[in-house]
Amino acid sequence: MPIPRKPILAANWKMNKGPSETEDFLKSFLGKISGKSFPCEIVVAPPSVSLAKAAEVLGGPKVPVQLAAQNASQEDPGAFTGEVTMVMLKEFYLHYVILGHSERRSIYGETDEVINAKMKKAREANLKPIFCIGETLAEREAGKLEEVLGRQITKGLEGLTEKDMLDTVVAYEPVWAIGTGVTATAEQAQEAHAFVRGEIEKLYGEAVAKKIRIQYGGSMKAANAAELMACPDIDGGLIGGAALDPTSFYDLIEAACSVVEE
Ligand code: PGA
Repeated sequence: MPIPRKPILAANWKMNKGPSETEDFLKSFLGKISGKSFPCEIVVAPPSVSLAKAAEVLGGPKVPVQLAAQNASQEDPGAFTGEVTMVMLKEFYLHYVILGHSERRSIYGETDEVINAKMKKAREANLKPIFCIGETLAEREAGKLEEVLGRQITKGLEGLTEKDMLDTVVAYEPVWAIGTGVTATAEQAQEAHAFVRGEIEKLYGEAVAKKIRIQYGGSMKAANAAELMACPDIDGGLIGGAALDPTSFYDLIEAACSVVEE
């Protein structure tokens, strides 16, 4: 019997698309998916200024596409200029929040401790984290893949309960594959995903590990989506570049879903 993990395909737009471009994308994308059903969950993560428009276009709580934020603060409301709380974001019918993305780690200096605090805050607000982890090329070449992933998992998830974990999606994104056009081979990705699932099993037990969805991220596109998705431990994708255009995102979804057993 197949393991009941509904694959999740999430568009991470990063710092692209203000409200009007968000509206254009979503109207076109909704046109493409209208009348069709997919065995995968579809998520879009616009910049926070575009979430209100996205929620409006998608039409409230019963949306065919779920919304995610790309980041939020670990703090309660207060004197934190430029930040937004998890609770504020919830007003946009948001289900998910991306946390620990490698760009947040490397450009904004987010440590495992900060990411852990954000994970806890997200769960307090009843948001589902898309928890990103991944190694740099130097770390992989130095044979530190497992050490790095193991540390990111142990520290990032510290203090989270089994229930929190069941509401978390993990995104394995090798940093060297993000935005570079270089995708991990299906074999490299599967190996890392199996390792990640094994680490989760050590922390939360086999039943939880079997239920957790682990997305692959890093230059995923229509041309490689099916091969990646066919791997037993790959349960979806976190997609940057190929999700900026509605046709390209739609084509990726079709390709990815073509190998999903319903
Ligand atoms: P990419 O980005 O698909 O453009 O490589 C993925 C990500 O950063 O989540």
